[in-house]
Amino acid sequence: MRTEDLIHFCAPARLVMGCGTRAQLPALVQRLGWRCGVLVTDRFFTQNTPWVREYVEAARVRQIDVIVFNGGEPDPSTVLCDEATASVRQKAEGRVIDHVIALGGGSNIDLAKALCLTLPGGQPIKDFVGDIGGVQPLPLVAMPTTAGTGSEATPGAILIDPENATKIAVMDNALRPQIALVDPEFTYSCPPRVTADAGIDAFTHAIESFLTLDSALYDRQGHADPGYSGRSALTMLFARESMRLCARWMVPVYQDGSLKEGRAAMAYASLYAALSYGSAGLNAVHGLAYAIAAQTHKSHGSTNAVMLPYVLDEIAAVRPHEFVELADVLGLGAMTAAEASRAVPLRVREWVGQLGIATDLKAFGIAEAALETMVKDGLAVVRLAKAFPVADVPAAYRRIVLKAFAGRLSGDA
Ligand SMILES: NC(=O)c1ccc[n+]([C@@H]2O[C@H](COP(=O)([O-])OP(=O)(O)OC[C@H]3O[C@@H](n4cnc5c(N)ncnc54)[C@H](O)[C@@H]3O)[C@@H](O)[C@H]2O)c1
Repeated sequence: MRTEDLIHFCAPARLVMGCGTRAQLPALVQRLGWRCGVLVTDRFFTQNTPWVREYVEAARVRQIDVIVFNGGEPDPSTVLCDEATASVRQKAEGRVIDHVIALGGGSNIDLAKALCLTLPGGQPIKDFVGDIGGVQPLPLVAMPTTAGTGSEATPGAILIDPENATKIAVMDNALRPQIALVDPEFTYSCPPRVTADAGIDAFTHAIESFLTLDSALYDRQGHADPGYSGRSALTMLFARESMRLCARWMVPVYQDGSLKEGRAAMAYASLYAALSYGSAGLNAVHGLAYAIAAQTHKSHGSTNAVMLPYVLDEIAAVRPHEFVELADVLGLGAMTAAEASRAVPLRVREWVGQLGIATDLKAFGIAEAALETMVKDGLAVVRLAKAFPVADVPAAYRRIVLKAFAGRLSGDA
């Protein structure tokens, strides 16, 4: 029993989950009294799936007006958000928008979260970075079509800031969706690359939050309603189940996207991971991955994946009991802490390779000359660096990056 836990757990207000559940949305929106919504998506969904048309028609029957914005793009920027704000406000022609619906991967969900803040007043999204200033965003329905980011359960929107080529976050518990509608059938059409990158993202969220700083030690900076507040027995419960599902299905579903049980399992794994990291928070993998993304512009999941084994290698020494548990959860069997500290990072790196992702920084396209900048940029994401539960974080980040460049784990012969 973790009697020291200080839990501040936050989740979406409603979770609707299961194959075919998308058909329930129009009645639910009507029941909530919403009358005019914006559906934020991208062209793939308007051109290649019936989902947008089906929703718009079913909503219309219930006298719900829907404005479709299909200009979503991977890794949305602040510029895209401001353009979308202007375009949707113009299309609304004076109608009062009372909710937003996101259909897509983490990118469309994050854009929709940002629009929940900007649509009512038309301000630029940068006005809300750091602190949304007590503004009540429009209610959001998030319908993920990838199994990975868990953005449907988290308090933040991640956007690219083209002015300094970094990712910035707009964050507040008020941005957690009012409804997370997770219909695994949405993920059936994901191509293998999207499936793999999203799958490893979910797994990273689960394992990173399982090992992160304890809630009793987390610096909430006096915040009365923190978005992230460290791991607890509650968050670890979700992380464990997520990792178990990922260990079983992440690679098979990448190899064969027609595995319906696997698609559903990964949808659950992604959501469970978000119910863990969406309150516990994350640390070094994401901190360093943001730095790699700034240099390579590669997908979020792959930048996490290349760092994950090496961060695990570093953190094993301070989480011996957890590593024994991880060996079991990941299917390696009963092990001592010393054995698990070597075997777990090796197994995770094997999965990264099986998912078609480079397993060291050199192969990922990072030059040796860029390593110091990467350490510096990683440490600059202070929120994540502070949650890495080791004594000397700068030294640990440096060791991780050097090992990741050389492709060396403690368990390598
Ligand atoms: N807010 C958060 O809590 C959070 C957490 C993690 C990641 N993110 C963000 O999420 C983004 C990554 O999201 P993602 O991995 O879901 O990918 P994505 O949303 O960027 O989508 C990648 C591509 O896959 C396509 N796609 C999505 N679903 C599909 C489907 N069912 N069938 C066919 N194609 C499909 C999209 O159209 C897009 O072209 C990054 O910008 C990252 O920063 C946010």
